[in-house]
Amino acid sequence: MAVERTFSIIKPDATRRNITGKIIDRLEGAGLRVVAQKRKWLTRGEAEGFYAVHRERTFFNDLVAFMTSGPVVVQVLEGEDAIAKNREVMGATNPENADAGTIRKDFAESIEANSVHGSDGPDTAKTEIAYFFAETEIVG
Ligand code: CMP
Repeated sequence: MAVERTFSIIKPDATRRNITGKIIDRLEGAGLRVVAQKRKWLTRGEAEGFYAVHRERTFFNDLVAFMTSGPVVVQVLEGEDAIAKNREVMGATNPENADAGTIRKDFAESIEANSVHGSDGPDTAKTEIAYFFAETEIVG
């Protein structure tokens, strides 16, 4: 295992319900450290660009509308095996399939309003971190 960085979003369903602290507590409890963080209201262009890989999917327009429906918290997490660890703590994309004790099982409202996003691999992590943060904004 190595120390890695991964990218995380706390989504509008979670900011709306004022549970960002509860979610960060789960991440920190798993040994992940928040080394960069900001609260932002994504523009349509930012959301479309971030999720460009999904642009042909049937849910793309709804996803962009949801992600711009309220503020999000974008953050960089650091720790041993951070990419896999974050995905483990988040649980499956669809909360109905998420394991007990995961963020999505406990907090998500639906597959769309699923409270958190996390990078799915090292290349994605690098691209997604750079999409929102300058290297100087990341303080380990
Ligand atoms: P996320 O990890 O942010 O990546 C893409 C998002 O699309 C995903 O989480 C879900 O919230 C959302 N989404 C909405 N509908 C679907 C679907 N049918 N399959 C996969 N992802 C979906």
